[in-house]
Amino acid sequence: MLAHLLTTLLLSVLTLALPHTSSNQATCTPTAYTISSYSANPTKPNQSIHLAFRSAFPDPSLVTDAAFSGTVCDTSPDPSGNFPNELTCLTGRSNLEVDLRGALGSGRLTVAHFWGCGGKRWMSSTPVVIDAGSEGKDFRPQDVREVLCGAPTCP
Ligand SMILES: *[C@@H]1O[C@H](CO)[C@@H](O)[C@H](O)[C@H]1NC(C)=O
Repeated sequence: MLAHLLTTLLLSVLTLALPHTSSNQATCTPTAYTISSYSANPTKPNQSIHLAFRSAFPDPSLVTDAAFSGTVCDTSPDPSGNFPNELTCLTGRSNLEVDLRGALGSGRLTVAHFWGCGGKRWMSSTPVVIDAGSEGKDFRPQDVREVLCGAPTCP
């Protein structure tokens, strides 16, 4: 009788706790990112970067992500002629933050991506090198983790 009760309790605890966490991580992790239509002009004074980014998920219906249907980042020098380290993306930095990780023409970028899934905020930080040859190829998100809300990127 007591053993039965304990087994029932243990099973309930396992059902509530373990599978929930692991399935959340799997269903909330993007399967791929794609950067397409990449172009960069490193020559002053006409420096520019243009790229289009989109994400893919195992079940998009569980996800809130402005970049899922695609976003565009277009950046030029600021009024004083300096090229910013952080690109400007249409869906805003609460969704996508793309930083230069080297000279403008090197194609070395870090993509920080933020999305909602399973009632939580998530982010990834992915270094990528993009050039004419790698344009349009998928790459995997790295360092996927939950974001504790209260951070500037929380809704
Ligand atoms: C910059 O762009 C302007 C306007 O399109 C063009 O006339 C000029 O030659 C360009 N400069 C360089 C260095 O490419």
